Amino acid sequence: MDDILSLAKRRGFVFPGSDIYGGLANSWDYGPLGHLLKQNIKAEWWKFFVQQRDDMVPMDSAIIMNTKVWEASGHIQNFSDPLVECKSCHHRFRVDHLLEARSAEPGYDKEEVVRIEDVPCPNCSGQLSSPKNFNLMFKTFIGSTEDDSSVAYLRPETAAGMFVNFKNILQVTRRRLPFGIAQIGKNFRNEITPGNFIFRTREFEIGEFEYFINPNPADGAGWEAMFEMWLDQIRRWWKDIMQIDMDNLVWHELPDGERAHYSKRTVDIEYKFPFGVKELHGIAYRTDFDLLRHQAASGEDLQYTDPVTNEKFLPHVIEPTFGIDRMLLVSLLEAYHVEDAPTGEAGETDKRVVMKFPHYLAPIKVAVLPLSKKTELSSLAQEIANRLRKDWMVEYDETQSIGKRYRRQDEIGTPYCVTVDFDSLVDKKVTVRDRDTMAQERILITDLVDYLAKHLCSNTIN
Ligand code: GAP
Repeated sequence: MDDILSLAKRRGFVFPGSDIYGGLANSWDYGPLGHLLKQNIKAEWWKFFVQQRDDMVPMDSAIIMNTKVWEASGHIQNFSDPLVECKSCHHRFRVDHLLEARSAEPGYDKEEVVRIEDVPCPNCSGQLSSPKNFNLMFKTFIGSTEDDSSVAYLRPETAAGMFVNFKNILQVTRRRLPFGIAQIGKNFRNEITPGNFIFRTREFEIGEFEYFINPNPADGAGWEAMFEMWLDQIRRWWKDIMQIDMDNLVWHELPDGERAHYSKRTVDIEYKFPFGVKELHGIAYRTDFDLLRHQAASGEDLQYTDPVTNEKFLPHVIEPTFGIDRMLLVSLLEAYHVEDAPTGEAGETDKRVVMKFPHYLAPIKVAVLPLSKKTELSSLAQEIANRLRKDWMVEYDETQSIGKRYRRQDEIGTPYCVTVDFDSLVDKKVTVRDRDTMAQERILITDLVDYLAKHLCSNTIN
């Protein structure tokens, strides 16, 4: 994690938030490369789960919604974590985190029941209070008065926006079940113990969809089959699109008693992070809980009428949900490689750090590097860079030695470097270097766009 953190800051993937003011605990800003990487992950997610399917429709709902939405969804009453406060240093801790840490201690007896009262404060070893519930929603006020009637909340999840728009979307798209509504957006949770870099923050993005199904279809393909279909798609997402080492994933089937009360099946997809096996994202069968609650609270009929059978019922929902920032963290961890590489001196090697992102996730696709700053070379190199920019994110760099420039591009994961040298003025060719193999090829400048288009692997899996 330290290596990733240092690379992220040094190269401009992620900066500590409000850095010049000493930061703001656990807030992070995405720098130029982090922003591009995140955009690319979201674009691939969108392509795989929405664009390439004929059963998904997109939307983008408001962050601040009518407070009645959160009453109906249960967030005002239940979206809380039990916390304890240290009676000496007044630090607050999540009860589940303390119990988890305690049971991970060496020598812990599995039969032992850990009582929170027996756990000393991790900060000062003081005594902890008894647990109290703490609502995680960020409160704000609408308009100029700050009283109970103007209270509003920043959304803690994107799902509610899709449930309250179910009727609108059904009317305008005239979709038949099964179909899904998808969106990606920012969410806010006043987490008490955020941490581990961008793993747990107070402001983060979720990509999720609500997949509406008939719980008793005539063809017999009920929720179990739909759930399996989505698990399979999720597996393909991680294996084929994100191209991660599948041994790093843990498929955690939540047993009875651990699931939310409305869920009949939940699978947490966990990842072996350097700080432990933790939830990466999840999938839940939420039954008709949400539509039922919003129907009752709003008084609107949210039922679906099947155009063929005329059957009228409340659809049930399967919800795959993905934390975008956690996916970005995983993509950094998976891409990070340290390898021996030749220095240029005969037989000598040194270490190179190389981020082996799949090409379509790489923030910068091509670097154009003239061997000298002399005008005749730099003007040709600029001309080439400007042409490539029409199709890809390109970096132009004419500073430092070529070796250092290659290392820098390796470290930010640029799949191809195009080197322009004095021979290029004569033979109209450039050298193209492959990030992963470090192999170099001489290519005619006129063939460069076609060469890169062919070699920059796009994700065409469907
Ligand atoms: N609608 C369901 C829902 O919101 P969730 O498990 O509470 O489910 C979805 O959140 C995903 O959002 C998580 O699986 C995780 O990837 C991500 N996530 C949750 N809390 C987060 C936080 N504080 N910081 C970063 N990502 C978070």
